[in-house]
Amino acid sequence: MSENLAYALTQVVHNFGAAAVLGGAVFALWPAFRPEDTRSFAWLIFFAWGAQMASGALFGVTSLHYYGETPDLSHVAMAALAVKIAAAISGFVLVGMYLLRGRTWTQTGVRRTFQSLAVLATLALTAAAFLRWFS
Ligand code: HEM
Repeated sequence: MSENLAYALTQVVHNFGAAAVLGGAVFALWPAFRPEDTRSFAWLIFFAWGAQMASGALFGVTSLHYYGETPDLSHVAMAALAVKIAAAISGFVLVGMYLLRGRTWTQTGVRRTFQSLAVLATLALTAAAFLRWFS
């Protein structure tokens, strides 16, 4: 019971984080790219990538706590997990760099940054399906 609750609450954070990393980037770009709004979206995306890494790690910690080990993953699931971790680190660093230095970037550079963030989120969400069903 407490175990299911721990997984479910972690999943709530993880699901909304996934919605925010993709939704935030898409919203900043579409239907029209509005450079004046991108900083607030960038903060949302920054915290959302952070939440993904924290809640992703919490899945592992929860398994360790209740079972004394993390699940034995297949090669496909392991590769999918590696893709997610790489996407999360890249997204976090990229949006962090934009928050630190983006004021000096060209409009094209900023648009490409958000396009890259959307691609990274799409990659991670696709990998999530493989992690789930090849575990
Ligand atoms: C450090 C990064 C991450 C780690 C360690 C991680 C880890 C995990 C784990 C352990 C699960 C449970 C898998 C299962 O039910 O078998 C999970 C599920 C999920 N993750 Fe992540 N994750 C990370 C990043 C992300 C990112 C960046 C996204 C999306 C943008 C994402 C989206 C999802 C989704 C949608 C699920 C639910 C899949 C399902 O049950 O159908 N994760 N993640």
